[in-house]
Amino acid sequence: MRTSRWLAGAWLACAIAGAQAADPAAVARGKYLFEAGDCIGCHAGNGTSAAPSGGLGLDTPFGKFRAPNITPDKQYGIGLWSEPEFRRALREGVGKHGEYLFPVFPYTSFTRMTDGDAADIYAYLMSLPPVAAPNKPHEAKAPFGWRSLLLGWRTLFFNEGVKTPDATRSAEWNRGDYLVHAVGHCEECHTPRNALGATKSSMAFSGNVGGPDGQNAPNITSDVATGIGDWSIADIQTLLKTGMTPDSDLVGSGMKAVVRGTSKLTDADRRAMAVYLKSVPPIRVEAKPKSAAKSPPP
Ligand code: HEC
Ligand code: HEC
Repeated sequence: MRTSRWLAGAWLACAIAGAQAADPAAVARGKYLFEAGDCIGCHAGNGTSAAPSGGLGLDTPFGKFRAPNITPDKQYGIGLWSEPEFRRALREGVGKHGEYLFPVFPYTSFTRMTDGDAADIYAYLMSLPPVAAPNKPHEAKAPFGWRSLLLGWRTLFFNEGVKTPDATRSAEWNRGDYLVHAVGHCEECHTPRNALGATKSSMAFSGNVGGPDGQNAPNITSDVATGIGDWSIADIQTLLKTGMTPDSDLVGSGMKAVVRGTSKLTDADRRAMAVYLKSVPPIRVEAKPKSAAKSPPP
């Protein structure tokens, strides 16, 4: 009798805790950000599961990295992570046990995310069904697989922190700046990297030939000859919604996955991103990298 009453009480407590953990509005906002950040582009599981159960191989000049299982599975996923631990991973690139995470995980961009947005993504992930898929080890080339060396890398290249809005710009521009940098991490592919894999900020958005997985991410600065200076705001919005360029080409490789996410955003958010991109100063690069990525005309 006493046991059953205790059990009923415990069940009730769990039910209340569960209901609090799954605030539907936070889960919905988190899902939206998860799409905008294309987390699934790297954390997808193999096979038919839509859950971020990990395992995809990401080829980089430093070897092959595999994004881990971030479903709430307690053994293999992040089911035992607290919200502050999750936020620390996203914004500081530090794992549950205090280890430095490899910057293949773009925390270098997510570091600009607000507390609220990180908490919402956490709420969304915790609402997903857990998937018991073990993580596969990275196949990094020595010495790039040594986590201890990341301290030096971080000291040199990691600018941690949320960026404050620019008061001289419109709310729309600031929203676009935030979505492009903190969530969409567009620079991670579109900005060239130095020999140690850090993005070169002076060349922001000017394209990266031979990016991750051998992708040629084109120059998306406002340079007319080699960038997208001749695209209108509406053209950029269309690309982010449908994947179609003004030449009626459909974008491929990594951009296809990015568009799968941006296609689910509101028109207002896509417009804000376009407004921000149009303000990126032009940088002229030698060759238009995107022509190399395109297949030859038939
Ligand atoms: C470009 C690929 C990529 C994208 C995009 C990406 N991640 Fe990851 N993520 C990784 C890799 C690779 C690791 C493993 C890093 C390591 O082992 O040091 C990782 C690690 C993590 C971890 C730590 C997990 C653990 O077990 O240590 C969390 C949490 C995480 N990612 C969440 C996210 C979220 C949320 C998003 C979207 C907002 C996201 N990731 C987007 C590649 C990515
Ligand atoms: C995973 C790497 C990756 C990320 C992240 C990424 N892109 Fe791209 N992007 C590419 C690649 C690769 C192409 C070329 C695709 C093709 O030609 O088929 C491309 C193409 C584009 C183009 C078309 C340019 C042209 O000249 O045709 C635009 C615009 C663009 N990206 C904007 C963005 C924005 C905005 C973001 C952030 C929301 C972003 N990209 C994030 C890899 C990426």
